[in-house]
Amino acid sequence: MKCSALSLSILFLLLSSLPAIAQEYTAGQAIFTKKKCQRCHVSGDLKKKGPSLEVIAKAYQDGAKLLSYFRGDMEPIVEPERANLMKMRRKQLKKLTNQQQKDLSQYMMSFKE
Ligand code: HEC
Repeated sequence: MKCSALSLSILFLLLSSLPAIAQEYTAGQAIFTKKKCQRCHVSGDLKKKGPSLEVIAKAYQDGAKLLSYFRGDMEPIVEPERANLMKMRRKQLKKLTNQQQKDLSQYMMSFKE
């Protein structure tokens, strides 16, 4: 009995935290698409101008670091020698609200393998 009550509460906890994550994912994806980031960043091996979403997520490892990059508090780490191609976008990223930056980083970090 005790055991099933415990698993029920774990299940409940899991289910109640899901919508929040899903919501951020969708919001972040919407920003990504609206800003046309997919022109240069996609998932997988398709050749684009920018590094793939997996490569970026792997380099960053955690969302807090990516947030620092969005906010302009951190220098590029993926391909610094081509950072000029991100210059205009970095200005846009800096202007997003805190919540938008968080949503976007959550979305991009979801490609961590
Ligand atoms: C014109 C093509 C282009 C577009 C559009 C573009 N990027 Fe990039 N992005 C690049 C290139 C090239 C790099 C590699 C240079 C670098 O690492 O700074 C890069 C690198 C990055 C990195 C890794 C930075 C690092 O640490 O090196 C992030 C994060 C990123 N882009 C996010 C975005 C987001 C979010 C958008 C949409 C607002 C976007 N990019 C739109 C070309 C683009």
